[in-house]
Amino acid sequence: MNPLLSKLQPYPFERLRALHAGITPNPAYPPISLGIGEPRHATPQLIKDALTGSLAGLASYPSTLGEPKLRETIQDWLRRRYDLKVDAVTQILPVNGSREALFALAQTVIDPAKADATVICPNPFYQIYEGAALLAGASVYFVPSDANRNFAVDYSGVPESVWAKTQLLFVCSPGNPAGAVMTLAEWKLLFDLSDRYGFVIASDECYSEIYFRDEPPLGGLQAAALSGRHDFKNLVAMTSLSKRSNVPGLRSGFVAGDAALIKPFLLYRTYHGSAMSPIVQAASMAAWADEAHVVDNRTKYRAKFAQVTPLLAGVMSVALPDAGFYLWAGVPEAFEGDDETFSRDLLAAYNVVVLPGSYLARTAQGSNLGNPGAGRIRMALVAETAECVEAAQRIVQFIQSKD
Ligand SMILES: Cc1ncc(COP(=O)(O)O)c(C=O)c1O
Repeated sequence: MNPLLSKLQPYPFERLRALHAGITPNPAYPPISLGIGEPRHATPQLIKDALTGSLAGLASYPSTLGEPKLRETIQDWLRRRYDLKVDAVTQILPVNGSREALFALAQTVIDPAKADATVICPNPFYQIYEGAALLAGASVYFVPSDANRNFAVDYSGVPESVWAKTQLLFVCSPGNPAGAVMTLAEWKLLFDLSDRYGFVIASDECYSEIYFRDEPPLGGLQAAALSGRHDFKNLVAMTSLSKRSNVPGLRSGFVAGDAALIKPFLLYRTYHGSAMSPIVQAASMAAWADEAHVVDNRTKYRAKFAQVTPLLAGVMSVALPDAGFYLWAGVPEAFEGDDETFSRDLLAAYNVVVLPGSYLARTAQGSNLGNPGAGRIRMALVAETAECVEAAQRIVQFIQSKD
């Protein structure tokens, strides 16, 4: 067996199941889950129609590069959304969701034969970053996000010796779980560090279209172009239809950026066998070409967050994020900051599932902060508004019952 498999940590939802094992939720309340970040708004009809209208695609093998028309549709979206000029042949690749792309990119980029191959991850973080790094033979250096600076990742504490051995850095903007959007100044700092130490930056942007400020989130490639880096040196961005278009089951996204990275990535993917089905390509073209459903989707999230956030802010430390569909809230003092107890007792008393924040972070090396997710919970507001409001009302009652 591959010995690296033994380095993988239990996935947060596995830990949540273990935490909740043996609890009988209060039967007076129907169950509501804010645990998993799976979009639950309806899939737009135009995507379903494109899918069923392209079944002839079942009869042919797709190429890993994808149809030229799909890459051109994505090129067009990048131009409309970010005012970017990206080459559809050498700088764009379709992927089967950003999860597999994040994983595969690490396998392409990391040279495990180099001493102390290191991957830098935000902390808390999307769990795939860690598994991708470990299975590529690297070790992970976690950099905490700073609650006092809108959860910006605090790179100032990373020692030079760590930068020097870093091969890949994962960025998540808008972030999961805190929803923070990186500024141009933060991007410029990372570009300077990448130039100095030669590491690749993988920008995970799958929440980019669900935002609450007037200004749409800055993209990594956009930040590069605004900094005069028109070749996107050492940078790739990953975007997905899962959240933007409510199609997590379609498994569709793309990677775009530095042609010098896309080329070996294509080679890796050819052998890995990750071509996108022709049917999924057809549905993806329809989705990327349409913005009306994205605007509707965002409007729905905005209305939902506008109702739920103030309810919860009355009883716990929580604020509207920049973007994304999570609330990242502090556990009230009455629970002594114990996010596991909060999650367990809430399920028992009110039949609502929330994810303990400590499951999304690690106690990081060189940090005196301990686990930066501890004392917080993540709530995914993916259900319809009425259900999310009901969950929030129960959480309010739960917290007030402890006061
Ligand atoms: C931060 C982040 N990145 C990537 C993904 C993967 O999304 P997908 O593979 O559906 O594109 C998720 C899914 O929850 C996520 O939260």
